[in-house]
Amino acid sequence: MKHRSLIIWGLSAGLAVLVVLAGFIRPVLAGRLAQEQGSITRGAKLYDNWYATLGVTPPSGNMPIWGRQTTNTRSGEETWRCVSCHGWDYQGKDGAYRQGSGRYTGFPGVYAAAQSKSAEELVAILKGSADPEHNFSAYLDDASLNDLAVFLKSALIDDTQYIDLQTLRVKGGNAGHGSQLYNDQCARCHGADGAKIAFRFEGRDATLGTLAVVDPWRFLHKTRFGTPGTDMVVGFDLGWTPQDGRDVLLYAQSLPSGLVTEQQGGALGELPAETQARPGGPATSFLTGILTALGAVATGLGFAVVLGVFLVGVLFVIVWLVRGSGKKG
Ligand code: HEC
Ligand code: HEC
Repeated sequence: MKHRSLIIWGLSAGLAVLVVLAGFIRPVLAGRLAQEQGSITRGAKLYDNWYATLGVTPPSGNMPIWGRQTTNTRSGEETWRCVSCHGWDYQGKDGAYRQGSGRYTGFPGVYAAAQSKSAEELVAILKGSADPEHNFSAYLDDASLNDLAVFLKSALIDDTQYIDLQTLRVKGGNAGHGSQLYNDQCARCHGADGAKIAFRFEGRDATLGTLAVVDPWRFLHKTRFGTPGTDMVVGFDLGWTPQDGRDVLLYAQSLPSGLVTEQQGGALGELPAETQARPGGPATSFLTGILTALGAVATGLGFAVVLGVFLVGVLFVIVWLVRGSGKKG
């Protein structure tokens, strides 16, 4: 009898410790995720156009590194944007801005570096550690550089296998789902036909349909992270998955574009696997949520204290159990 009540007592003590632990994790988790989410969206906008995001005047002249190439003849403020050198697909010379694209610079992408380098190393690169001319610290403060690093590390999406490089059409995907998302979130500003806001793109009149067809990677980045300086909705903040963005793109590619319609890539078929979603990205499921939470707690100062209390609780239960069974025997 005594033995049993000791077990019950020990288990309740353990449970109490777990409840305290959970109470500690939840605010940390929520805070961390909200903070990281905000950094990602802001970092993505800075990557698109940091001076429009910050609302400042761009530096005059060309970015010094721009002069190392002659293939891309653009000049002025545009040469200061991360995207002008590293691309909307984050792959630089190896991606959509490859040789012959009209945007070729020969500059590298950031996708590989983002996977292999730490956030601290990325911030250092943006301060000129590897190349003194790649120094943005005169224009971007530490908070902004950190947001850029967080975006690069945790939100870059490699869409190469989902877009046909010849036709620029989305491969696979669900146009019905895309239509639903578009009409829920986009049509009120862009119109059901995507023509309500008129664009100028590469010197010509364009609708949303045109943009979707001629530069799918740009469309995806803007759909996921918004357009700096506007109050456009941000897919990422709505909790959209990478595939949601591609579905909207697929649907938008069917809107009137003013272009002669090309044949669909012929690669319609298998849907991409769920697991392809955002490698290393923010929590998207319960399990990764818990892992993120544990990671967040592990880095927290209070962790040692909580762990200590927890271990003492567990030890307490074990000791009592052993003593209880010892008495019995
Ligand atoms: C004018 C072109 C240009 C602009 C603008 C530019 N970069 Fe770069 N970036 C380069 C080049 C060239 C390199 C290769 C190494 C070097 O020279 O620093 C590079 C390297 C990098 C790397 C490291 C890549 C690696 O493989 O090690 C990262 C990360 C990076 N840039 C991020 C950014 C971000 C973020 C911005 C915007 C704030 C930006 N770059 C703006 C040209 C540019
Ligand atoms: C609150 C109004 C609003 C909503 C809602 C909205 N947008 Fe936008 N969008 C804008 C504005 C304003 C611009 C910038 C127009 C310009 O550049 O002249 C823009 C620009 C864009 C661009 C970029 C054009 C470029 O420069 O490449 C894309 C792509 C786009 N929107 C897609 C979408 C999609 C997809 C949705 C739904 C998820 C959406 N927008 C929802 C207002 C909105």
